[in-house]
Amino acid sequence: MSHNEVKTSLDPKTIETVKATVPVLAEHGEAITKRFYQLLFQNHPELKNIFNQTNQKRGRQPRALANTVYAAAQHIDQLEVIEPVIIQVAHKHRSLNIKPEQYPIVGENLLFAIKDTLGDQATDDIMSAWEKAYKVIAEVFIKVEQEMYHEVSHQTGGWTGFRNFKVTRKVQESDVITSFYLKPEDHGLLPAFNPGQYITVKAEIPGEPYTHLRQYSLSDAPGQDHFRISVKREDSVGHPEGVVSNFLHKQVEEGDVLPVSAPGGDFHLDTENDKPLVLISGGVGQTPIHSMLKTVVKKQPNRPVYYIHAATNDDVHALKQEVQHIAAESSQVKTFTCYSQPNKGDQSDYVGYITLDWLKECIPSSDCEIYFCGPEGFMKHLKSVLYELNVPSQQIHYEFFGPHVDL
Ligand SMILES: Cc1cc2nc3c(=O)[nH]c(=O)nc-3n(C[C@H](O)[C@H](O)[C@H](O)COP(=O)(O)OP(=O)(O)OC[C@H]3O[C@@H](n4cnc5c(N)ncnc54)[C@H](O)[C@@H]3O)c2cc1C
Ligand code: HEM
Repeated sequence: MSHNEVKTSLDPKTIETVKATVPVLAEHGEAITKRFYQLLFQNHPELKNIFNQTNQKRGRQPRALANTVYAAAQHIDQLEVIEPVIIQVAHKHRSLNIKPEQYPIVGENLLFAIKDTLGDQATDDIMSAWEKAYKVIAEVFIKVEQEMYHEVSHQTGGWTGFRNFKVTRKVQESDVITSFYLKPEDHGLLPAFNPGQYITVKAEIPGEPYTHLRQYSLSDAPGQDHFRISVKREDSVGHPEGVVSNFLHKQVEEGDVLPVSAPGGDFHLDTENDKPLVLISGGVGQTPIHSMLKTVVKKQPNRPVYYIHAATNDDVHALKQEVQHIAAESSQVKTFTCYSQPNKGDQSDYVGYITLDWLKECIPSSDCEIYFCGPEGFMKHLKSVLYELNVPSQQIHYEFFGPHVDL
């Protein structure tokens, strides 16, 4: 990302106007976002095929997109400050197959939404400055994403867009988690991926007017003749059940075909680093972590690994035998389980939520690399425990199974 390129493409007056109005836009964030999605789907209903419609129905329109535009606008003369966010979002966009020609559509509707919401406050000068700023921001995303498309299409076994995969095995891993083994329908090669990365599955559900795209982390190690995803069934608990997870659990069978995008994502194990590795997961957050475990024992057989898994109880503890088997075969791995609500007779190393004291018993010191993933509440709690443990922030890595939020 070229600093100068961005700086010279906008005049100082535009930069000043944009920066000065970010707080006003952010203040009306909710209203602008709501109007933006209304306009977007009204003018481009085909985009319902790619945006998560459950989020829309829940009235919890993802604010992430607009908020990132504001954050970028705030740093419009030094976009490299938000480079990590741009990379992370670009991975998601690439995985969703977002195209350069869709950027003006988002831009136009976002600008309409700003104008509609702010009314007279949004003067022509302000609107024109935002139009220019959006173009600059969009250009940066498009460029980063083009590089990613290039990379995945030139990788051995790689592809862009969606490729049909056959479900070759469907295996129940727990009361709520089922694994799907996927092989390319074209019998071609599979690309290498980094453990921790995800794919996007396109669900074409009979009777549904639109497709549904969802990300699933690859739960097996790279270098196999298949991909594996392990999916938690999102049951209805006072609200509708999860659309895609239930489709996969209840309707997709061995032999069926699923369109899938190439692996991506910036959350992955660094196998060049040899500090003790601490892998912590909560519930279905174990999928990327499990791939890391399977990889580290192959690639770094001397690296100490501490694998900690938290689950509600034994009924929903998936991939347990696989982990036990790895630990039995590899003396470098120590495993720990923690159940928050064990059933009578369940065996775990700890009962309750992970505490600082228990974590200190599990791992040798705070000088380790920590990777974690789980439900939002679990991650928030864990982040505060790791803060108390004084683990340097650059040694802490995590993934959200939804839009990124501040922990
Ligand atoms: C990078 C990444 C990796 C991921 N990896 C995995 C993985 O390995 N395994 C896995 O299982 N998942 C994973 N996910 C999550 C996955 O992408 C889906 O979000 C998940 O399967 C739920 O999708 P769904 O279509 O079943 O539910 P959706 O239809 O999207 O619904 C989401 C939730 O909202 C609830 N809901 C529906 N309607 C309402 C309403 N009106 N009010 C309140 N709540 C409502 C549903 O019951 C459900 O719990 C990952 C996500 C990301 C971003
Ligand atoms: C500069 C413009 C854009 C910015 C700043 C932006 C930002 C974001 C952010 C922050 C997320 C959440 C990432 C996460 O899940 O962690 C996101 C997701 C997403 N974006 Fe973008 N985006 C832009 C343009 C676009 C365009 C042009 C499209 C396609 C029309 C698009 C489609 C999506 C979709 C489908 C998601 C997944 C969320 C969902 O399904 O609701 N985005 N974007």
